[in-house]
Amino acid sequence: PTAAALDRAESLILSIPDYPEPGILFRDITPLLADAAGLRACIDALIEPFAGTFDVVAGVEARGFLLAGAIAVAADVGLVPIRKAGKLPRPAAAVSYTLEYATATIEAHDIVDGTRVLLVDDVLATGGTIAAAHELVDALGGVVVGTAVLMELDALGGRAVLGGMPVTALFHA
Ligand code: PRP
Repeated sequence: PTAAALDRAESLILSIPDYPEPGILFRDITPLLADAAGLRACIDALIEPFAGTFDVVAGVEARGFLLAGAIAVAADVGLVPIRKAGKLPRPAAAVSYTLEYATATIEAHDIVDGTRVLLVDDVLATGGTIAAAHELVDALGGVVVGTAVLMELDALGGRAVLGGMPVTALFHA
């Protein structure tokens, strides 16, 4: 995609103050998802640095699912959902991680040993979610090749907690 196409796509992401709670600036990607050209540009740009290096894309619930489905079809790979605890019938591994005021647990079904996995999510903030997803894929016998996100919130330092994993972020805030 061209820089202009990506600039336009970025302009479709809204910043919503005080959602879901006071003091949080929520990044609303739904206008971007609803725009065919914007979505196409982002999906292609997320795949580009990792093209040919992954067998499946793993999307993190919930917004990561939306991108993972599109990436899977465009890159001609399979999809692995990484879900919040209790949503999958036969979880093969679970990892708990700390959020700002709580803990969360993610789970996934089994994957074939050695499967190369691209992690995808909408936003990289503290990195806790992606770090946990990485640990989860490791526990399942997969190999994480990197992470692709639409937006990285630079000030929250997420990239630093990911231990040198290749991270592509299309936009920064
Ligand atoms: C958001 C976002 C990422 C995560 C990023 O998900 O979609 O998954 O937070 O934050 P982190 O880098 O600090 O871990 P959220 O927890 O809101 O879940 P949801 O998509 O199910 O609403």
